[in-house]
Amino acid sequence: MAFTLLVLPAVAQAPPPTAPAAAKPPSVVAGFPVNYDEALAGGYTLPDVLKLANGKPVKNAKDWNAKRRPELVKLYEEQQFGRTPGRPAAMSFDVFDKGTPAMEGKALRKQVTVYFSADRNGPKEDIVIYVPAKATKPVPLLLCINFSPNASIFNDPGIKLGEMWNRDKKKVPAQRGGGLGRMNIDGLLEKGIGVAGIYYGDIDPDFPGGLPFGVRAHYLKPGQAEPAADEWGAISAWAWGLSRAMDYLETEQSVDAKRVALYGVSRLGKTVLWAGVHDTRFALVVASCSGEGGAALSRRNFGETIAHMTAPSRFGYQFAANRAKYAEHPEQCPVDAHMLVALMAPRPVFLQTGDGDLWSDPKGEFLAAVAAEPVYKLLGKQGLGTDQMPKAGEPIFHDIGYHMHAGGHGTIPGDWVPITKYLEMYLHP
Ligand code: GCU
Repeated sequence: MAFTLLVLPAVAQAPPPTAPAAAKPPSVVAGFPVNYDEALAGGYTLPDVLKLANGKPVKNAKDWNAKRRPELVKLYEEQQFGRTPGRPAAMSFDVFDKGTPAMEGKALRKQVTVYFSADRNGPKEDIVIYVPAKATKPVPLLLCINFSPNASIFNDPGIKLGEMWNRDKKKVPAQRGGGLGRMNIDGLLEKGIGVAGIYYGDIDPDFPGGLPFGVRAHYLKPGQAEPAADEWGAISAWAWGLSRAMDYLETEQSVDAKRVALYGVSRLGKTVLWAGVHDTRFALVVASCSGEGGAALSRRNFGETIAHMTAPSRFGYQFAANRAKYAEHPEQCPVDAHMLVALMAPRPVFLQTGDGDLWSDPKGEFLAAVAAEPVYKLLGKQGLGTDQMPKAGEPIFHDIGYHMHAGGHGTIPGDWVPITKYLEMYLHP
């Protein structure tokens, strides 16, 4: 299988430590010290995922589904990612490529523009979909949200070019290839799994001050200059865009909408976790190096913290404004990452990390997965089944899955072997 994907952000906000294991991580970021000493990381108590806000225990699946889950989703909306509007009434789909042989005959390609409003000059997103050419019935699909436009991600001259945000924060025509990382999808197509892509920059820009140029601006009420403190940041907007893609996929006959998995790296790893939690139509999530604000525990002081994440010069715009309240006091936040992982239950979730990606704290992601296990068990599913962190290259393929490669930030080609295996196990192509 020849996967070659390592997607990197296309804009000015290049992440600091995307380096291989050997590079020395920064000791101060945005004026805040960064801890990499295990001896100084602990000493926290996680909020109890199976205790209701009123103090009563969650005893069974019914309590979880009817009470605790909605309570936690609301807290995530209000305190971390921000509330989003629902499906726009005037949304429409333009299927401008109804099925063209692509990828050397291995796939059938479709392309769709989702117009988020009645205004065709208004905000919109392009979706490209590849279904295995030999498929005779609806296929499971991996929906990827990417840092680059579809024409840059997939090696296919038939893709509509689209536009991208450049480093000067201007929208310019996309580049084919683009040098930002390409995805070789042959291995997935061979296994009978379709692949679709969207570009996060179609939905909302990824830089401080980007608000006026994305979809969130269209929902500001008259006189409102920015979203309220509990309303969407950019991550919630990108997750909303994934839900709009799902709205289309529910109408797409070549795809089984009940078997759509999500994949994203880094800030888009955070995005796919939140999208999967918020929109239970998604069957499975693969979150790569999602780190702080994703699957890594915030109470654990290791690598990036809420303070680094929400510093105005950095990534505050990606979250609800309320998130910054917890910068100095993560222990006061009513939620932590084990709850985000748990909210995927009973659906499978695969956390892919790298042992050298200390900034995103692979151990913090492992410990969140361990602490999410009681919810999976309650729902009759299998958590990691261990509290001993596996070594790099020893993946766990349970309903909560975990895989750490030897190396730094992102998805490396070899990761596609366990990811594909996991998709096969749970999506049954
Ligand atoms: C920065 C940021 C991380 C984020 C990463 C990325 O490093 O601090 O939280 O995950 O960028 O999106 O690449």
